[in-house]
Amino acid sequence: MRQVNLGIIGGGTVGGGVFQAIQRNGALMASRLGVSLTVARVAVRDLKKARAVKIPAGLLTTDWHSVVADPAVNLVVELMGGTTTARQVVLAALKLGKPVVTANKALLSAHGEELFEAAQHYGTNLYYEASVAGGIPIIKVLREGLIGNRITRLFGIVNGTCNYILTRMKDEGADFAAMLAEAQRLGYAETPPDLDIDGHDAAHKTGILASLAHGFWVNPNQIYTEGIRSITRQDIEFASKLGYTIRLLGCVKTANGEGMKSASRSRQSAIQVSVYPALVPNSHVLANVNGVFNAVYVRGDVVGDTLYYGRGAGQDATASAVLSDLADAALDLKCGTKNRIPPFIPHERDGAVLPMDDVVSRYYVRLTVEDRPGVFAKIAGILAKAKIGISSIIQPEGHDGVTVPVILMIHDAPNAAMRKALAAVAKLPVVKSAPVMIRVESFE
Ligand SMILES: NC(=O)c1ccc[n+]([C@@H]2O[C@H](COP(=O)([O-])OP(=O)(O)OC[C@H]3O[C@@H](n4cnc5c(N)ncnc54)[C@H](OP(=O)(O)O)[C@@H]3O)[C@@H](O)[C@H]2O)c1
Repeated sequence: MRQVNLGIIGGGTVGGGVFQAIQRNGALMASRLGVSLTVARVAVRDLKKARAVKIPAGLLTTDWHSVVADPAVNLVVELMGGTTTARQVVLAALKLGKPVVTANKALLSAHGEELFEAAQHYGTNLYYEASVAGGIPIIKVLREGLIGNRITRLFGIVNGTCNYILTRMKDEGADFAAMLAEAQRLGYAETPPDLDIDGHDAAHKTGILASLAHGFWVNPNQIYTEGIRSITRQDIEFASKLGYTIRLLGCVKTANGEGMKSASRSRQSAIQVSVYPALVPNSHVLANVNGVFNAVYVRGDVVGDTLYYGRGAGQDATASAVLSDLADAALDLKCGTKNRIPPFIPHERDGAVLPMDDVVSRYYVRLTVEDRPGVFAKIAGILAKAKIGISSIIQPEGHDGVTVPVILMIHDAPNAAMRKALAAVAKLPVVKSAPVMIRVESFE
């Protein structure tokens, strides 16, 4: 049986998980693939560090160069994280014609195009299933399972930390800060947590999915990104009374067909790629994705609606995704196919991301206003002037005092128009604090 020797760079959470999973299921994989995977060497930063998963000392080194260059290593697995040394590791391996498997979404988001080109140039391959949604094989779904579809919509709950915080806030009526602290205590959130809770991690993943679904590399700087820091217990409560659950969504929508509505006709071919908290109707399956779980909802023009659900991070789920890539890379080596499924094929020359200002959404708006007659008329007047329609006005009961909350549910309106109108509303003397605006996703 053909043996493929792995050089793993990184023996931490994911590296340890992959090492352990190969010990557990390596023989099973060999019987399924006809290729035996062997961990030849593992590079780490600190040889003395205590490791939850024991890796034999004889395999460990601190010199990643020697692992990549080792002639006995056929396949390099980058599991160190970061974007600087990791980029060097991946490029060095590709340059030697060795296929690379990585779980590093930040690296792909920052340098994906360069690395994909390098893989093609050096006649080898780069696999990255574990970079998005952990154990959910969503990269394989987009590159293979749904290859015969045009993807008109994709919505992802792709950050387990945010989903955990939002779920607990709703279940327990708790504040954001308390649930963030709890997520950190349980190891679901990093310290500092900014990459997760400000939406950047979800943007990295959403960008990768959008690129695969639409055939052009989405520049991460063009992804409109809002995190969950400003979501309050009050908004979660009001949303719940209205039949909605707040979730951080990665959204990829086309302007054509039944996709997105765009404010500008000239932009009809551009796609929306954005990350923001949204009100999801409780009847929709994504409203019921709870805790650290991830889900990706994909609509194809042939297949219709599909849903993928599972653990989005963690040692075993991520290791499972890495094993899937190892199997593909090992089969390439066994069959001499090198890159049966290339990492990314840009095929959409006119691909563009629609500016957020032009994206049309529905909105939930919460205002804190003086409790006296004539207030609604003033607010409605500003919105009507901006051609923004109100679908309902709700004044929650049980709020005594000088100020009261008012919820406006707003019909489809361009983001720029909405932002401007709310800026004008905020200046009204009767409006006592900055308006809160959260988009409403209808999944129509
Ligand atoms: N954790 C998850 O649930 C998860 C899920 C999906 C994707 N990912 C991605 O997987 C990657 C790894 O994440 P992780 O959670 O496993 O990180 P981690 O636990 O911090 O592990 C990183 C590993 O890389 C090693 N390392 C760092 N710099 C090195 C260097 N210069 N030379 C050699 N080794 C070096 C570290 O060595 P020491 O052990 O000696 O410090 C450690 O073993 C990241 O890209 C992450 O985004 C993680």
